[in-house]
Amino acid sequence: MHETHPHLLKSGEITPGISALEYHERRAALAAKMPLGSIAILVGNEIKTRSGAVFYEFHQNPDFYYLTGFNEPTALAIIEKSTDDDYTFHMFVQPKNERIELWEGPRTGVQGALDVFNADEAGDIDHAPVYLGRLLKGAKQVFMDYGPGPSKLAGFFSAAVGNARHATTEAHITELIKKYKIPASAVKPLAPLVQSLRAVKSAAEIAVMRTAGRISGRAISWASGEKCKTERELDATLDYGFRRGGCEKSAYVPVVAGGTNALAIHYTRNDNVLHDGDLVLIDAGGQYGGYCADISRAWPVNGRFTAAQRDLYEAVLSTQKALINRVVAGTSLESLHAQSVEIFAHEIKQIGFEVSRAVLSEVLYPHYVGHHLGLDVHDVPLTSRRIPLVSGNVITIEPGLYVPENDSRFPEAFRGMGLRIEDNVAVNGHNPVVLSVEAVKEVVDVEAACQRILQA
Ligand code: GLY
Ligand code: MN
Ligand code: MN
Repeated sequence: MHETHPHLLKSGEITPGISALEYHERRAALAAKMPLGSIAILVGNEIKTRSGAVFYEFHQNPDFYYLTGFNEPTALAIIEKSTDDDYTFHMFVQPKNERIELWEGPRTGVQGALDVFNADEAGDIDHAPVYLGRLLKGAKQVFMDYGPGPSKLAGFFSAAVGNARHATTEAHITELIKKYKIPASAVKPLAPLVQSLRAVKSAAEIAVMRTAGRISGRAISWASGEKCKTERELDATLDYGFRRGGCEKSAYVPVVAGGTNALAIHYTRNDNVLHDGDLVLIDAGGQYGGYCADISRAWPVNGRFTAAQRDLYEAVLSTQKALINRVVAGTSLESLHAQSVEIFAHEIKQIGFEVSRAVLSEVLYPHYVGHHLGLDVHDVPLTSRRIPLVSGNVITIEPGLYVPENDSRFPEAFRGMGLRIEDNVAVNGHNPVVLSVEAVKEVVDVEAACQRILQA
């Protein structure tokens, strides 16, 4: 709350940059897409154990977070379309418990769900099955998704259905649906509805994502001057930069790839030595207010590009900048990808590659130009790449070239180099807004940042 964490939240905000009113508007927009008498069930994530008593850092189910702003484990949210123009918001949360809170710190509790998160009805998660049963009995249609199990929350439901076989909360809810004789045809996936909302960011979301991009971009420019000796040291330096700048954590496990390790597109071991004379490729970003930055940059370990490194880098950079200018309302990811192959074909010819389109798009540039970005790194994946982009969409633009070692089809000077340049771009009519602009990328700026001449 603003009262307890004024350094993170302004008055009226539930999460950084997003007000209680906006959370209400999101739920109202979802309800507007649901038929009268239907309910949407959202199952929050639980703590997952790593080994023994050690658990992984908690990460909320992004759809649950998007509609509630509630960031504690083991909770359930139900949005009931109760009248034509209104909805009822039910929340079930872990109750206050003095003994547990003495160890783990304060919980929101049932009263907090009402007072802070604006639930119309709230209860103890232990009581959710009986209560949900009543809601299901009256529901004309049920929207819900099936997440991965097994889960502890499932335990609360096994008692209610008298059946311990089901490993996931969703499986137990399915049993309840059967018990209350809701026809299978009345149960529909919720994700398509929520993703269609999440795909178009509000002004407040764009501002939060700009903050994620600004902090992350500055951290990356700063880290390039830190003279790290190993990939692991650079990985830690980036994470430190994101958190020191105000991000909650890294948005994903980063790629920190020296030399030929960059040829593996999802290289995440990050445990090798960085060698003088090599390039290092990083793909990293911080998370702010739940929203992700997703940035790739490459720089010379010793701070100066060789002629060949510069030529390949400029080919990727020219392609990436040309594509960013084409991120306008009405284009599509599919069209941008097709254009990326054509621009690359032209660029690499200038530096001596003679390859077919097939070799270009299967060997040198085997991945897609980008994806939607938001609460997930690969956000709203149900959104077709063919549909026109609209203002409020946020996408990445991330062309890359990966020249295999020991392959005589390619000029020798470039073999073994892997490069990708990735920025986060908000669609804004015909004026794309680069959210990650603080991560330097022009050759002169990258060299200056590496040598601490430029203080980003
Ligand atoms: N960091 C994952 C991606 O760029 O898609
Ligand atoms: Mn990335
Ligand atoms: Mn990406």
